[in-house]
This record gives sequence, C-alpha cells and structure tokens, in this order.
Amino acid sequence: MKKYEEIKEILKKNNQEQLLVCYDKLDTEGKEKLLNQISDIDFKQINTLYENTKNNKNTNSKDDLIEPIDYVDESKLTEEEYNNYKNVGENIIKTKKLAVLTVAGGQGTRLGFKGPKGKYDIGLDTHESLFELICKPLKEANKKYGVIIPWYIMTSNENNEETVSFFKENNYFGYPEKEVKFFIQGEIPMISEDGKILVNEEGFVKLAADGHGGVFKSMVRSGVLKDLNARNVDWLVIGPVDNPLINMADPIFLGVTASKNCMAAGKSVVKANPEERVGVFCKRNKKPSVIEYTEISQEMCNLRDKNGELVFGESNVNCNLFNMKRINEVAENELPYHAAHKKADYIDENGKLVVAEKPNAYKYETFIFDAFESMESMAILRVKREEEFAPVKNAEGVDSPATSRELYKKFYNIK
Ligand code: UTP
Repeated sequence: MKKYEEIKEILKKNNQEQLLVCYDKLDTEGKEKLLNQISDIDFKQINTLYENTKNNKNTNSKDDLIEPIDYVDESKLTEEEYNNYKNVGENIIKTKKLAVLTVAGGQGTRLGFKGPKGKYDIGLDTHESLFELICKPLKEANKKYGVIIPWYIMTSNENNEETVSFFKENNYFGYPEKEVKFFIQGEIPMISEDGKILVNEEGFVKLAADGHGGVFKSMVRSGVLKDLNARNVDWLVIGPVDNPLINMADPIFLGVTASKNCMAAGKSVVKANPEERVGVFCKRNKKPSVIEYTEISQEMCNLRDKNGELVFGESNVNCNLFNMKRINEVAENELPYHAAHKKADYIDENGKLVVAEKPNAYKYETFIFDAFESMESMAILRVKREEEFAPVKNAEGVDSPATSRELYKKFYNIK
C-alpha cells in the first residue's frame, strides 16, 4: 500500500494521475506490475519530449552546416587496394574479432505483416524467410574463414517470443545455436496530444519500442555488451532484418574502415534518382551524419560534382560497422528522440476505451545513425545497389516483396 500511495503522489505531482485508472480492476500481480512500470518512468524526460514536440523543436536545426562526406567507391578500387583491404578484413574475421547484430524489433507497419518481419516469406520458390536469407551469407563466411561469427538479434517485447520460437522450429537455420543470442529492445511510453501518458487496453502503461537506436542501451541492459567485450570482439556490424541481400561479413567493409583508422562505417548505394526518399550520408557541423529526405532542399538534392555525381547521393542502407570501443561510449550517452504521430487506442481517464481513427498520440524513437555524430570520422563504402540492397518496406510498389524478390533472384541467378 505504501508503494501505491507513493506512486499516487508522484503521479499527482506530474499531472499523470490517469495512469492508475485501471488499478482497482487488476489482480495482485497486475497491480504490482503497473506500479513497477510507473516507477520506471522518467517523468522529466517525458515532459521534455512532449514540450519539444509541441514546440516543434526538431532535433536537427536549420542552421546546421551540411557538407558532403568522402566515400570509397568499391567498384573503383584498384586491384592492389582491393586486395589490401580484403587481407585486412579477412584477418579481422579469421581472428574472431567480428560479431554481427540484426535489429529485428520493428513493427513492419508499412508491410502490414502480423508477426516478426524476419518470418516474412518474400515469395521465392524455396519459401525461405528473411531470417533464413540473411543467415545464409553468414554461414558461408563461417565456412570460408573457419570461424563461427557470433550473431545477436534484437527483438521487441511484442515479437521476442515468436522470433525465438521461429528459430527453434527451424533449427536455427543451421546456425550453431549457442552462437545466436536474442535480446529485447527498450520501450518508452506513448503520449497523447495533450501530454498524457497513455494507458493500454489491459490497464498498463502503453509502451512502444524505442527505435533501432535503442540497440546501444539494450545491449548494456541485456548483457550483450559485456558478452561482446568478454569475447574480445573488436568490430560489430549492425544491420536490418528486411534486406535479404545484406552482406554483413564483408572483408572489404572491415578492411576499408580499419585501414583508414575509422571507428565506424556505413555502406551506401547511389540514390536511384535525386528525389528518392532516403536519408543520405553527409557531414553535419563537421561530424558524420545522415540528412533525411524531409530535411534536404531541392537544390541540394540535385547538386552534382565535376564528375556528374550527386554531391548528396550516398543513401544510407542501414548496414553499419562500429568499433567496440565506440559502442561502449555510445551506449553511455543519450541519442536524441524523434517523435512520430501515430494512431493509438487507449483507456481514457474515465476508464473508457478510445479507438483511434486518426493519429492521436506520439511515439518516440531513436535512430542508429544519430550515433554517427559522436564519431570524429567515419568510412563510407559505396557498394552496388543490385548486389547488396533489396529492402522490404512496403506491401506493394517501391521496396516491396515483389521488388526485393526480383533483385534477389537476379543477383543469385535464380530462374
Ligand atoms: P524500419 O525503420 O524500416 O521499421 O526498420 P520497420 O519496423 O521495419 O517498418 P515500419 O517503419 O514499421 O513500416 C529498419 C530496421 O530496424 C528495426 C527493424 O526491425 C528493421 O530491421 N527496428 C526498427 C528495430 O529493431 N526496432 C525499432 O524500434 C524500429
């Protein structure tokens, strides 16, 4: 009871008393869970996030100095350069200094698939899931280099159980089971348009995944970071679950980054056209960064250098490499939160269910690429779109299962 009274007091002070609206209806365990959830809320953080959203305070400023960033075009390397990078990279893999991590905690809203996106079948004759397809090159690298690359998979509270079961049912797709480790990403409360933390249909705090940038803090919380450090891993590639052509165990990527003494790297593909709605690598206030398509002017989009190349043309494909020293540091710092206006059903302060017909609440997410700004330098490796990028984002049209399947078949020469 003491805890209840204390929590009530805290809620009153923060003007969030609606959070206890279903308390009396919960069983003992539920009551305990709700009180614990509320004690975990950082009300100061929630207030700041809400105020920033209301005042339209974007995390990035119009006054930022945006400049192009140097990149290495893999297809233009000389044979000697290529071989040197390859040697450096292969040595990293062979000496077990590489681990890979798949962020698979997203909801896949645009695809509209219920369940973990990694379970999705893009329609190949083999009906392999995205998880199985991204596992294949890892298995090949293991065979080639005589190692077993540790594979970490970040799930969400929503999809963890189903993801783990899927791996078990499929015998881990032939990957050594003890080298596949799952961990759950963090969550943050959703807020109504008037700043109230929402209550979900079960009477608990309505939480939502905190974005793929949550990977760093979740690695700390779950012990993954400790595990990586204990294994003396030096480099970690972090990639998405929804690109079946992703090449994470890539010696050239590792070799370029290590040889240039960079602490992080990102793969890019040339923008399909100046208007493509993608984030591109750049320098922001002299630091590596990504500029979103919503932020970039028409003029910058179309700017070309003397060779006719787009100046801001390096699309971020979300396949990134970090030196473990920097992962340790990034995990200790806060990444900025970005607000998304979403539809959310919730229980109101009178205990009534509100069904959202239009966006009515804010969800807050952090992004991996915001970690780039804490790097003094970063290697960008331009790879070929047709070899490494077949994203599955939308149900139809651009970046859909149909386009991904075609690209996949073309690359692997499947009839
Ligand atoms: P996206 O940002 O494209 O999100 O994720 P999504 O969930 O796949 O799709 P939408 O936006 O809801 O339609 C890029 C990668 O980041 C992961 C996704 O699982 C995907 O691999 N991700 C995204 C997380 O792991 N956690 C998140 O909170 C968000």
